[in-house]
Amino acid sequence: MNENQLNTLFLNGILVDSSIKDSEIEDFDSLLKKLKENKIAFLDSAVMHELYDGEPINQDSYVEIIKNYDGETSSGKPSDWVTYFNDRFKRLRDLLLIKDSSGIVSVSAIRDMPQGSDVKTIAMVSNISISPVKKYTVFDIEDSTGSYRGILTSQDQDLLADQVVLIKGRKFKDALFIKEIVYPDIQVKDSKPKEIEDSYALFMSDIHVGSKLFAKDAFELFLKWINQEVSEYSSIAKLVKFIVISGDLVDGVGVYPNQEKELEIKGLREQYEAFFSLFDRVPKRIKLLISQGNHDATHIAEPQPKLDPRFSEPVYRLQNAIMLSNPYQVNLVIGGSKTNLLSYHGFSIPYYADTIQKYNKMNPQDIEEIMKLHLKSRHLAPTHGSSQVVPLTRDYLVIDETPDIYATGHIHKVLASKYKETILINSSCWQYQTSYQKKYGMNPDIAKIPIVNLRDKTFQILDFLGEKVQVYRT
Ligand SMILES: [Fe+2]
Ligand SMILES: [Fe+2]
Repeated sequence: MNENQLNTLFLNGILVDSSIKDSEIEDFDSLLKKLKENKIAFLDSAVMHELYDGEPINQDSYVEIIKNYDGETSSGKPSDWVTYFNDRFKRLRDLLLIKDSSGIVSVSAIRDMPQGSDVKTIAMVSNISISPVKKYTVFDIEDSTGSYRGILTSQDQDLLADQVVLIKGRKFKDALFIKEIVYPDIQVKDSKPKEIEDSYALFMSDIHVGSKLFAKDAFELFLKWINQEVSEYSSIAKLVKFIVISGDLVDGVGVYPNQEKELEIKGLREQYEAFFSLFDRVPKRIKLLISQGNHDATHIAEPQPKLDPRFSEPVYRLQNAIMLSNPYQVNLVIGGSKTNLLSYHGFSIPYYADTIQKYNKMNPQDIEEIMKLHLKSRHLAPTHGSSQVVPLTRDYLVIDETPDIYATGHIHKVLASKYKETILINSSCWQYQTSYQKKYGMNPDIAKIPIVNLRDKTFQILDFLGEKVQVYRT
């Protein structure tokens, strides 16, 4: 679409999804007429498909974008990193100020305060260490005005380097003795059921199409189920409105040494072609929210832009696909009721499993705790270095809004749980155990799909690994 066409749509009150802004429209006037006749306020690929194919328009469900990285770049200069960290600090500080804004002082002001003063400040934490004798936690606190020493006479395992927190303490000698640490944390969402019919979102990731270990049979069973060709839980399949696919769509090429030995499809484009053939069999009334992981055709640093069409063009042919960045945040809208979804592939999770002793088994409970740490920090990779990042003017990994659902993948484990009123999901994988996983004793959860009823936020996990679809019990 050209600028004129986008403007005309805008002036007519019609917003256009970024995934179709580049599509060529042959007869714009007739498209506009149809949009107006059908009172469409949001034009996405599914609506476009329905208009052109003459199928009934499903105004019932759509996706409203809240946060989606559009691919702006950074030169990575030192000043870009300063801008990036300032943005992160400011936005997290604003979230903390909503909780408590009285009597906050800057870090540099602490130096001039009398000994014994009570101090309240908002700061970024760094250089955390445990003192060898007394087992105190010693760390630096820092804002744009300066830095100071903080001492906690106990240990708080939720305290992570580079987190932004509100600190209450008392000045003594050249340190601040901490009495309380307040985390930005998420809010408690409204848990009342919505006044809509039962409607489901499914959560998938780590399909790894192209791998010799791709779980073909299980995927076939899923395709039969979603097309209501098997009787088990068919009533649920009928009510699915969204499938969220959070990265690692294909196994990729050259992701790790000697990967080619484990590939059935050796070309990246061919892998995406195979992905297309599978997902093209999902009914077109269901919207596919597609984002990428470290095996896909984009750079690995986060945020990752939507898939690069030079390599993944077949995916763009899925008429019901909505192509998004990693991470992204959207509202899943049904009959006017919104469910706020945050999707992140999950690349930072192993860092915390490696650095926090008690999580090193990486079982679903550990992953759940790490996901809670993300939400508590209001950041998807709070410690610098826990994922690779692009220093943009805006930090896309800050969690500005409390999601109703926080979905990740990457770990090849399945979990569905709740923190406060937010549903936590890790969506298993579709790849049998690789030689690498075998070497490190990692047992993947295969072909499990967490499902959420968007009416009342109840959830369960369906298992497609056996002969029949069944409910998975952990
Ligand atoms: Fe994966
Ligand atoms: Fe991954």
